[in-house]
Amino acid sequence: MSGNGKATTAKDNNLTWHDHKVTKEVRAAQKKQKPCVIWFTGLSGSGKSTLANALEAKLVEMGHHTYLLDGDNVRHGLNKDLGFSDTDRIENIRRIGEAAKLFVDAGIIVITAFISPFKSDRQMARNLLGQGEFIEVHVDAPLAVCERRDPKGLYAKARAGQIRQFTGIDSPYEQPESPELRLNTGELDVASCTALLASELSKRGLI
Ligand code: ADX
Repeated sequence: MSGNGKATTAKDNNLTWHDHKVTKEVRAAQKKQKPCVIWFTGLSGSGKSTLANALEAKLVEMGHHTYLLDGDNVRHGLNKDLGFSDTDRIENIRRIGEAAKLFVDAGIIVITAFISPFKSDRQMARNLLGQGEFIEVHVDAPLAVCERRDPKGLYAKARAGQIRQFTGIDSPYEQPESPELRLNTGELDVASCTALLASELSKRGLI
């Protein structure tokens, strides 16, 4: 944004893109892997962070180079200025999409775990990446299951009106229509989900 509140473009700011000698392809080849983003989306308490953790551990064990971007953690640093209004969630996901793209450029397999409630923002993140580089995973536990688990006690607070704009209660979650993978974490355990994830990535030639 410029001082007058209007969005500025790279052209307005006299910016030029530089092509560097060491390219994405060189960095990926050095790491002997296909960089990509595994984008977990789902309600709070659906199991995104748990699965992201388990998948990252498995990929590292296999010798891959990974990085995990996790909602609660990123909101302690890069995105600590953002809250949970629609506008702030959109900016949260925009920054994560751009950060994930940088990691992919660095040759890394990126795992993200954000509610990312809006379809258009997930699509925007997808559009930043190349064909086949964005694997959307819907961590799909019913609201009732997430609310019963309530690992951080936040659903209880939201129901009591102590937290406003809580996803699934008084803020929307737009279900993915055709994610690359849907995992019903209300029924499947972590080991089964991790195995399904690994098999999907392998089927796609990513690992
Ligand atoms: S997102 O909607 O912008 O993608 P993000 O994944 O970064 O959300 O953060 C969600 C986490 O923030 C939740 O797991 C929960 O711990 C915490 N949180 C705090 N307030 C809210 C809220 N109003 N809605 C959802 N999550 C919240």
